[in-house]
Amino acid sequence: MKFNLPLVAPSILAADYTHLKQDIQDTIKGGAEWIHCDVMDGHFVPIISSGPMIISAAKRSCNVLLDVHLMVYNPDQYITDFAKAGAGIISVHCEATPHIHRSIQLIKESGVEAGVAINPGTPLEMIEPVLDDVNLVVLMSVNPGFGGQKFIESTYKRLIDLKRMRDERNSTFLIEIDGGVTPENIEKISNAGADIIVAGTSVFKTDDITQRMRDLTHRARLGKSTLV
Ligand code: DX5
Ligand code: ZN
Repeated sequence: MKFNLPLVAPSILAADYTHLKQDIQDTIKGGAEWIHCDVMDGHFVPIISSGPMIISAAKRSCNVLLDVHLMVYNPDQYITDFAKAGAGIISVHCEATPHIHRSIQLIKESGVEAGVAINPGTPLEMIEPVLDDVNLVVLMSVNPGFGGQKFIESTYKRLIDLKRMRDERNSTFLIEIDGGVTPENIEKISNAGADIIVAGTSVFKTDDITQRMRDLTHRARLGKSTLV
């Protein structure tokens, strides 16, 4: 599958689940090529969100890639279920398992692309050993657990450092920024080098989801767009 980068991935955590399909379709009309799905277990992060049933409902609502972000302890236990539910990419937090390499292998064995997610307070060195094994790095720009939080400014430097690590090793993983993205900061995030930019509140808590998706995508691509 080919995607236009950078791309905006709407996070359905902020959608209205009484009409999830409509909300997803509205983002696709506005150009969404990925849908970001947040899975929270009430332990790794404070709240509980969707499980495989919601991912499966999202899958039946659209034909674009489902980017599943697991914020759960013991992720290995659930990987097959999310793969079967229709995930295109599954990301696990390096802080949520002592066996990150094993989790990544399990994701790949289940026929899905693999990502590693990292919290704002975790040194990037922690994911270095798996950078050649993943398709995606989810660089958290808020502490995971809730939508609608403020973007953490130190993320810009981390993004630039991560890009340098990618260049040094000639890797091809994509870099995703997740949390606190707004129409005001998306251009700066894109200029700092994000490939995938997740946006929840700023897409769904608006009067016109389609128009907001278009607007965010336009701002993210000002001056750049590459097909990969
Ligand atoms: C945070 C989640 C994010 C969240 C982003 O724990 O991983 O994906 O939905 O939401 P906004 O865009 O509202 O910060
Ligand atoms: Zn997320």
